[in-house]
Amino acid sequence: MTAVITDIDQVLTTTRAVRRRMDFTRPVQRTVVEECLRLAQQAPMGSNLEDWRIVAVDDPELKRQLGRLYTEVWHQTVEGPLATGEAATTTRLSPDVRPDQVSKDRQERVLRAVKHLVDHLEEVPVLVVLCSTKPIPERPVGGAASGYYGSIFPFAWSFQLALRSRGLGSVMATALAHKARRVQEVLALPEDWRPVTLLPVAYTQGLDFRPAARAELSEVAFWNGATEPAGTA
Ligand SMILES: Cc1cc2nc3c(=O)[nH]c(=O)nc-3n(C[C@H](O)[C@H](O)[C@H](O)COP(=O)(O)O)c2cc1C
Repeated sequence: MTAVITDIDQVLTTTRAVRRRMDFTRPVQRTVVEECLRLAQQAPMGSNLEDWRIVAVDDPELKRQLGRLYTEVWHQTVEGPLATGEAATTTRLSPDVRPDQVSKDRQERVLRAVKHLVDHLEEVPVLVVLCSTKPIPERPVGGAASGYYGSIFPFAWSFQLALRSRGLGSVMATALAHKARRVQEVLALPEDWRPVTLLPVAYTQGLDFRPAARAELSEVAFWNGATEPAGTA
């Protein structure tokens, strides 16, 4: 399949997390998924090991089961804490969300979109589960942890970019990893294929995605240390 968006900068700036604008009615051929996976195989990974395993799911019953797991995650991590008062507001669910109104509004909007995807996951034409076969890092920070996650997300992002260039959309639905073991059971995966993220795949309704609002470069990037802001060159 030929790309529909060929400008690399446009692809880089308009590949959004797609949830609401997935077209559940338009089938996705295996060939286009495989084409994008092949492109993503060119992504960098630690130690040149290719210790990723990808499981693409288009079987309706398996998608239904994954959808049920995702719903459980939603209840446990969002609806439950809100109902019990453990989290008084949706923003309290993510303590790292900045307290300003713009960030809070954005978080509320994202959560509503996440709920939409939760409710419709089994209708998404293809669910791609990205697994790592690397040994689990003993510490959550440091070289091993960076290598673990750093060896899988470049693949995920390249895959998303390739999809976008072909008129499809996706989202890094990492929340499914809360149920990594159950995902392994549903898909009958070997013990050492550990699910890191789910990538639901569908054609998008329209192609007119825009660059997102982001901080000024000078707020987040610096030259030669932490005191000389970038963005003035
Ligand atoms: C590491 C990582 C984890 C994420 N986990 C989830 C997730 O579990 N569910 C979800 O719907 N989106 C998830 N996202 C997508 C983000 O919510 C999204 O990228 C962010 O809101 C910015 O939106 P944009 O990508 O459209 O600019 C994740 C993204 C990253 C990079």
